Amino acid sequence: MKKAVAKAAIEQVPSGCIIGVGTGSTANYFIDELGKIKGRLEGAVASSEATAARLKSHGINVLDLNSVDELEVYVDGADEITHNMHMIKGGGGALTREKIVAAVSRKFVCVADETKLVDILGNFPLPVEVIPMARSYVSRELVKLGGQPRLRTGFTTDNGNAILDVHGLTIMNPVELEGIINQITGVVTNGLFARRPADLLLLGTSNGVRQIKAG
Ligand code: A5P
Repeated sequence: MKKAVAKAAIEQVPSGCIIGVGTGSTANYFIDELGKIKGRLEGAVASSEATAARLKSHGINVLDLNSVDELEVYVDGADEITHNMHMIKGGGGALTREKIVAAVSRKFVCVADETKLVDILGNFPLPVEVIPMARSYVSRELVKLGGQPRLRTGFTTDNGNAILDVHGLTIMNPVELEGIINQITGVVTNGLFARRPADLLLLGTSNGVRQIKAG
């Protein structure tokens, strides 16, 4: 299913443009498909070091985001997504760079298999990237919001920070919670992608790829 959506996502890539590329196993399949059409791509901005390395291994030109004003499209996976196109991301720990690249992109295409589509976000623990010295303080604040944060052990983000995975949240208002968590001092960003949701979901199902747009 992940391979099928990765193939379908190629249709969303206009010729001669620069695109943003996400991180994770579904994004990796997409990068492999991109390698086949690299001749009609000007370049790509990567959302992680791992993605940059994979793009380069296919001979795709990787650009610094600071040299680009706007990206036509951003293609990335998700850990959970609702019919409103709100997502939890960051299972792979790349949430901050993913959110930055998504912010610069005109269109966000989410590629996911059908297990990722949910009615309410929160069953997947919400990743929160934190400045290391703020880890305990941010954890206490997240407990006040009703979550159970756990430090992702043995993991450092591409930005040199730590990840708290917050269990036990039932997220009824993702737009509001995204803002509240980002206001905690020491938080770099959280894995709710609700203020800038996806524009299109390519969902891999046993009956083929479904296209879902925000309602
Ligand atoms: C990476 O940090 C995440 O946001 C991924 O996009 C997400 O975890 C989806 O990954 P898979 O495509 O591997 O399920």
